[in-house]
Amino acid sequence: MSRARDTADAETDAEPLIAAEDVEVHFEKEQGILELFDDPDVVKAVDGISVAIEENDVLALVGESGCGKTTLGKTIIGLQQPTGGAIKYRGRDIWETKAGNTDLSFKDVRSSLQIIHQDPGSSLNPNRRIVETLAEPIRLTHPDITAGERRERIHSLLERVGMTPAHDFASRYPHQLSGGEKQRVALARALLMNPDVILADEAISALDVSLRVEMMDLMLDLQSEFNTSFVFVSHDLSNARYFAEHGDGRVGVMYLGNLVEVGPPERLIADPQHPYTEVLRWATPNLSLDATEASDPPMRKIDIPDPVNPPSGCRFHTRCPEARETCTRLQPELEEFSDLEASSDRADSSRSHRVACFRSEPDHQYWESSAIED
Ligand SMILES: Nc1ncnc2c1ncn2[C@@H]1O[C@H](COP(=O)(O)OP(=O)(O)O)[C@@H](O)[C@H]1O
Ligand code: SF4
Ligand SMILES: [Mg+2]
Repeated sequence: MSRARDTADAETDAEPLIAAEDVEVHFEKEQGILELFDDPDVVKAVDGISVAIEENDVLALVGESGCGKTTLGKTIIGLQQPTGGAIKYRGRDIWETKAGNTDLSFKDVRSSLQIIHQDPGSSLNPNRRIVETLAEPIRLTHPDITAGERRERIHSLLERVGMTPAHDFASRYPHQLSGGEKQRVALARALLMNPDVILADEAISALDVSLRVEMMDLMLDLQSEFNTSFVFVSHDLSNARYFAEHGDGRVGVMYLGNLVEVGPPERLIADPQHPYTEVLRWATPNLSLDATEASDPPMRKIDIPDPVNPPSGCRFHTRCPEARETCTRLQPELEEFSDLEASSDRADSSRSHRVACFRSEPDHQYWESSAIED
């Protein structure tokens, strides 16, 4: 159990582990010398997202490159400060905690929220043996334990992530490991902290296709064994589906800084409610869905709009084949979508299906509005 968790009292048990509340992350783009007197361009990387991560939860974020997955993931684990809205850990604002304004220690909160990057090599010190890299965080969090106990802990974790014989791998340098092995070390290092949440940001994207399922299975095994929640980020819907399906979690579809559909993978993929989810499904041929194969793209334009000047209203309206005039003016909110199947277990938020499209509201003015001419 993490120390941050120990400190949090029973009163806040009803709070989600992490709550992102209307979170915005707006970046000012660097100005060129000729633009010094212009207003700076602002990239709305994350623009008004609310999502909760529960204990033992799995959320797989998917969407095109640049849609804000990494920024949202980093915000969720307290590595990126939001420019608007709030991000809470067990009911406490993470950035207020950093400022010393809550009863939790920021250090404990940070150590209970871990990350695995796409390129594990970049986060391993090339001049240190694996055992030294793994010993450091233990020394920081458990200064009292002996060198022997530390070694034992490292070896048992290396074995747990499939690196046997552990003493052999422990004595190696990063360049003596394959990409998959480095990723296992990164996972072991994250787990050393007994984290509540691990952000796996494209953590399998650089691996050989043959190793991806193996690595996802390992993460999922450890997820249930360590009761750790995972935010799994991938640009590939088939990987997001695999991870969410086997982790009994949700897929969250992002488009230009917005979350446009969230739901259990079997429902979201079999019967997508957002036209953009259909695009992702179409663009992912290995989902083995006969109906979507070999058809024309379900969108009007291929190009992604400029995130500095995103479209008005529904951000997808410039590409959406279903767009009507209303969509150019009004922005749809992420709302509960009810279908017959869903109605039996609506109370369970992890199974709820939410979508941000006027088409899911039978009485919306969208239906009276005129079609868009290209
Ligand atoms: N530190 C930063 N400064 C300025 N713009 C950024 C920064 N980080 C990300 N962005 C921009 O924010 C948008 C979302 O980026 P990112 O979260 O990395 O998307 P994804 O992970 O989905 O590819 C992109 O347009 C990207 O260029
Ligand atoms: S709100 Fe309109 S533009 Fe947006 S996804 Fe729905 S139909 Fe398309
Ligand atoms: Mg990214």
